[in-house]
Amino acid sequence: MTSGAERAGRGAGRDYDQLVQRSRVHRSVYVDGDIFAEEMRKIFGAVWTYLGHESEIPEANDFKATRLGLRPVLLTRAQDGSIHALLNRCMHRGTVVCTAASGNARSFTCSYHGWTYSNTGKLTGVPFPGGTGPDFDRSELSLLALPQVESYRGFIFGVLDAKAPSLREYLGPAAALLDEWIGGGRSRRLVLRHGARRIAANANWKLYLDGAADGLHPLFTHRSFIELCSSRYRPGLFLSEFRRDPDDSEMYSQIMPNGHQYLDQRPSMTPTRWSAARPMPGMEHGVERIRATHGERADAVLEQAAFAGMNIFIFPNLSLVDNNIGVIQPVAANRTEIHWYPVTLSDQLDETLALRMRNGEDSDNFVNVDDVENWERAQEGLENVPEAEWLHTGRGIGTSEPYDESQGVATVAITNEEPMRAYQQVWKRLMQAPAPSLSGVAEGSVPA
Ligand code: FES
Ligand code: FE
Repeated sequence: MTSGAERAGRGAGRDYDQLVQRSRVHRSVYVDGDIFAEEMRKIFGAVWTYLGHESEIPEANDFKATRLGLRPVLLTRAQDGSIHALLNRCMHRGTVVCTAASGNARSFTCSYHGWTYSNTGKLTGVPFPGGTGPDFDRSELSLLALPQVESYRGFIFGVLDAKAPSLREYLGPAAALLDEWIGGGRSRRLVLRHGARRIAANANWKLYLDGAADGLHPLFTHRSFIELCSSRYRPGLFLSEFRRDPDDSEMYSQIMPNGHQYLDQRPSMTPTRWSAARPMPGMEHGVERIRATHGERADAVLEQAAFAGMNIFIFPNLSLVDNNIGVIQPVAANRTEIHWYPVTLSDQLDETLALRMRNGEDSDNFVNVDDVENWERAQEGLENVPEAEWLHTGRGIGTSEPYDESQGVATVAITNEEPMRAYQQVWKRLMQAPAPSLSGVAEGSVPA
């Protein structure tokens, strides 16, 4: 049922127009546990939300545990190759059915009373069925499944709304950026087979979003890493352009419909992305071997090991930074995990793997840990100084038009806070709408 407050454009008793304004946001948006609970229902799953990658469940009967907001989800590949997103919650008395992180299984048995479900969610077994009674109907007790599950270039997303427009439509212009990030033409696939590096922050999940296309913070937040990278300074070196006014560089940010954001660092990485790599252990030896083996093609081969230079954020939880897929996993109003999956390419040459891995470690080992420190300091200030109610979000107002989704893609200077203001409008719209509901038990699937 839609409440009166929701019909009036408010969330559950909150006036989100008041809390999220053009140049300021109220602290409660980051610290209030009730708002967090509402977000977990109204943001995650109300729009297409990233669940996992096809290469994590490559074989028939593979599965992976994931989450849709806080909801535990099993992402499965059935015997016929179709992909399903099942709510991992027993239809008997609510127990999480599968607690393994990943594996290969045709069925899952609940540890509480032994109900068994197939990997498409069907209830296939109940112990001692003679005692279930005449009204017991297994067909009504399948695991709930997301009614729509789709993938784009291997990225699997799900949505609770059976009538939501297609994933391709939701991604909009961001789909072309995903293609560019993968590179190598349509035949190239990404391969994630080695798990994730996990970082936890005592901070609200939206602090990640606020920084997704923020080109002002690197000089300060990432100063030590920029200095490390610049220790053998040459023009075009990774991050070196952040040392001066970043708005004078060739880098740019873009805003897209549905809260997606983009920051392109490539214009500052010259003459090639590989040439912008920071000094790193083993680099000289690896490069020497590649040059000896590949001769004139060596520069092209080294690009396979290079930092992507594209920071793409797909609202609400997928971040592509460096050569990693980052998944933002909210835990509580003041707790967030970031899962960084190193990614290789289907045509990746073995001799480039170590260099690509070293390069890929920058974002979590050096960069993201700096971010976490500042997010935690921000959370501490926001939580503990209630007398200061607002965050200022107005940088760049007047230098660019207010973003309107009918514009499609808008390009702004990288210190402009318009990308943040733009996603906050999407957030507000979702929080003011009724929560999505599952009507009926449809099984979402991606054809093999
Ligand atoms: Fe799962 Fe009883 S709660 S079988
Ligand atoms: Fe950062």
